[in-house]
Amino acid sequence: METAIDHSRKTFEKIPLTIAESISSGGKAIARQIADLILDKQRTGEMAVLGLATGSSPLVVYQELIRLHKDENLSFRNVISFNLDEYYPMQGNSGQSYVHFMHENLFRHIDILPENVHIPDGSVPSDHVQDFCHKYEQLINEAGGIDIQLLGIGRNGHIGFNEPGSSFQSLTRLVKLDPVTVTDASKDFVREEFVPVMAITMGIGTILRARRVIMMAWGEAKARVIREMIEGDVREQIPATILQMHPRVHVYLDQWAAMELARIKTPWLVEVCRWNDELKKRAVIWLSRRLQKPVLKLTSDDYKHHGLADLIRQEGAYDLNIRIYHSLQKTITGWPGGKKHADDSERPERALPWPKRSLIFSPHPDDDVISMGGTLLRLVDQGHEVHVAYQTSGNIAVADDEALRFAGFLRDFSQATDLVPKRFQAIHQHIERFFESKLPGAEDSPMVQLIKGLIRRGEAEAACRFCGVMEKNVHFINMPFYETGKVKKNPLGEADIQVVATLVEKVKPHQIFAAGDLRDPHGTHRVCLDAIFAALQRLRDKPWMKDCYLWLYRGAWQEWDIEDIDMAVPISPEELMRKRNAIFKHQSQKDSPVFPGDDKREFWQRSEARNRATALLYDKLGLAEYEAIEAFKRYYY
Ligand code: F6R
Repeated sequence: METAIDHSRKTFEKIPLTIAESISSGGKAIARQIADLILDKQRTGEMAVLGLATGSSPLVVYQELIRLHKDENLSFRNVISFNLDEYYPMQGNSGQSYVHFMHENLFRHIDILPENVHIPDGSVPSDHVQDFCHKYEQLINEAGGIDIQLLGIGRNGHIGFNEPGSSFQSLTRLVKLDPVTVTDASKDFVREEFVPVMAITMGIGTILRARRVIMMAWGEAKARVIREMIEGDVREQIPATILQMHPRVHVYLDQWAAMELARIKTPWLVEVCRWNDELKKRAVIWLSRRLQKPVLKLTSDDYKHHGLADLIRQEGAYDLNIRIYHSLQKTITGWPGGKKHADDSERPERALPWPKRSLIFSPHPDDDVISMGGTLLRLVDQGHEVHVAYQTSGNIAVADDEALRFAGFLRDFSQATDLVPKRFQAIHQHIERFFESKLPGAEDSPMVQLIKGLIRRGEAEAACRFCGVMEKNVHFINMPFYETGKVKKNPLGEADIQVVATLVEKVKPHQIFAAGDLRDPHGTHRVCLDAIFAALQRLRDKPWMKDCYLWLYRGAWQEWDIEDIDMAVPISPEELMRKRNAIFKHQSQKDSPVFPGDDKREFWQRSEARNRATALLYDKLGLAEYEAIEAFKRYYY
């Protein structure tokens, strides 16, 4: 049984918290507390009143509650539930409603009585909303108040849909959604413009009246706001900070949501550290960045005045600086496939075998060039046998209009050449009609999915051609988990692992590059990575696998922390231009990618900014000044 690892309260922390070993162990610990409340109340013949949340965070809790119901006979007949919120306007039978979410993810699997379930009604006419909200508060009071309120947290610090600026006294009411919330919700509605702009939410005052509050947050995207909530000042701009004032609140985090907390990020400021090489490197880089001084210029006084006196006690600042400087220097190489005939004892990659078979996995059809286009070009230029494997079709990210354009091309081409024009006319008509009646965010027809997937395939082929990757080495493995036709994908399955393993076995690579979004608990990149991990586990005893390095690049959104980088590949100004042109081959993603996230820049702009920022960081630490750098972390499997 997995256990949570730390319950203690550290310096700077104003809310008690637990960092769970995994999301699933965190979810289980929370579900256990809910189950204990229900059982206690059963013994005294009382009702347990639960405040419930939706979103991705509580799913693990609901899964465990369902398991407890099925395997351990936990009954929910003495439970009254009140959900936090609902979009407005929203029909309960819509796939995106929270009514639907709760039914699918919890209620239909347990024995809660339907009359005991309360969810704000997004379908009440606007002139009745106020009455409805008033009544909702009354119902909570009549039930005796909430015993345990379950909460997730938005990246902007919202709890429920109490957006930044909400009053701490607020009660259930109609609110406008913050732009950050709308962006985050767009993954369920496909496009931002389909997300309702309002919601009915319990107020902060309502939440604070709950006798106990349990909050959970998983994944790196929540790390910053969690630091604000746990260590920052109480302020309305970050509504969750008010939980510091609640007498009985507990927060569950996974290691990534906790990563910005002082106890993890700068443990030397919190407690006496047991120094190892990794921690020393982190501390030196932190000090150098904080003082904006190159590593080699840091003095003993700098260390002493920033809580790091114990770090230099054994080694002295001078030796420590040099050692860390060298370890950073060793990560830089212009030879990502190794340098033939060179001494490789201080290089990230081996000189031999040479040339290498390099296998680049790209979750979507453009991640390869966006995240490691410069390195890909170098590998090809330096004579390695480069294979690229596109893991999914990426069809969901193609706009309807693009599909229509290509169908129009097919129709016109067939007419011009007299090539069964009737068939292509019919295809075009089907697509035109389909889009006319398509509801926002609805699933595409198989034909439309096919066309959208082929558009992206053509773009990936063009980018590979541009980079000099041979056609026979371009692989489209279409992992089945992705092909749901919807934004929501299936979990990783055996068939996914099989297609990856088969390809690895066929290529027998000396090095593999993969999108290493270890810190993101959701999403396509994570599933694609898990498939690679599982496939490599299976193949690890094959003789040709013994010497295969696995390099992880980060996805389009973020870069590795500098202390995590094992290989830094410099990109010259000309190479950066070539990389940009390779990204431009992905035309369907250029003007308005369907999932831009909260950064509205185009992918090539983000990617260049990120590669330049990494180069600048190396420069500021006192290393050579490059135009741009792509970064990789070696993963030992
Ligand atoms: C959900 C709710 C929201 C979410 C928050 C986190 O009922 O009120 O406050 O808890 O937006 O969402 P996820 O868990 O999807 O990251």
